[in-house]
Amino acid sequence: MERKTVFSGLQPTGNIHIGNYLGALRNWVKLQDEYDCIYCVVDLHAITVPLDPTQFNRDRLDAAKALIAAGVDPERSLFYYQSQVPQHTELAWILGTITGTGQLNRMTQFKDKSDRAGSNLGLYSYPVLMAADILLYRADAVPVGEDQKQHLELTRDLAERFNHRFGDEFPMPEPIIPEKGARVMSLQDPTAKMSKSDPDENSRILILDDPDTIRKRLKRAVTDSETEVRYDWAAKPGVTNLIEIMSLLTGESVQSIETEYGTGGYGTFKDAVADAVVAGLAPIRSAFREMDDAEVARLMQRGALDARTRAEGFQQAVRKRVGLAG
Ligand code: TYM
Repeated sequence: MERKTVFSGLQPTGNIHIGNYLGALRNWVKLQDEYDCIYCVVDLHAITVPLDPTQFNRDRLDAAKALIAAGVDPERSLFYYQSQVPQHTELAWILGTITGTGQLNRMTQFKDKSDRAGSNLGLYSYPVLMAADILLYRADAVPVGEDQKQHLELTRDLAERFNHRFGDEFPMPEPIIPEKGARVMSLQDPTAKMSKSDPDENSRILILDDPDTIRKRLKRAVTDSETEVRYDWAAKPGVTNLIEIMSLLTGESVQSIETEYGTGGYGTFKDAVADAVVAGLAPIRSAFREMDDAEVARLMQRGALDARTRAEGFQQAVRKRVGLAG
């Protein structure tokens, strides 16, 4: 039987945090054992907000290095920068011609971001480029965090609309969203998700943060005025978020964390969470430090070359369907 295709992407903004890791990256890494995986540093998505080009270029390489350090294996998976494979933007344009503006107006991420960053056409059509990323390779499954669910629904709608209008071309991609960790919350406001763009650095832990920073941020994490360590999203979102992070990084069950730290006070509990996070991220940090920039740049070039060949094969079929071939 043919192996299923998995596709996912991450924006290279230099702030890859434990939400990205626990919600998506860990699944990316695991899926490599079983599936034909394609992972993309989506640099074109990232430039929809104003950036310093020199810093961005550095962040883009660092994101590629961090993903490899976290376990993305360029020998087993296709791994590259989105901008180096022009078939992504070509397909995005074609899909744009069957996307209703009403549907784009309803995208919550667009609404959030355009409030903060001011609107532009790139930000508006962002979900169409994401649909193109996924459909370009006829991906069957897409490992993401919960915040990408709406974009996945749009992707499926566009696949269906295209198939209906031009003939069966795209399979329906399924999201792979983990049961726990799909929505890691901000350490400063546990009712909002942890985000790369939050101006408050204390709201997140980056996967490359040093142990002192991790400990400081967890000490400052917002909890509540009680003292009990108990898993309860409605009444105790701050504590529950920390329990979940700890459970995911140690493999210890929520129940056993509750039993162990239930009445010992928040100070002891936060120290234990910090130990778990420091230990869980240590291998990524040390792998990152050992990596050679030029070697990673070379791997990314090779990935793009392979991706272009593969994407071009698929795009020829799309061009034919819409009358653009020959
Ligand atoms: P990005 O770069 O914002 O995030 C990368 C991945 O991390 C997940 N994530 C979270 N998971 C749990 N808790 C959180 N607090 C949290 N924050 C982020 C995201 O769901 C995502 O899976 N639009 C995408 C990038 C993209 C893409 C694609 C993804 C572009 N094309 C095609 C899949 C397929 C984004 O902005 O991810």
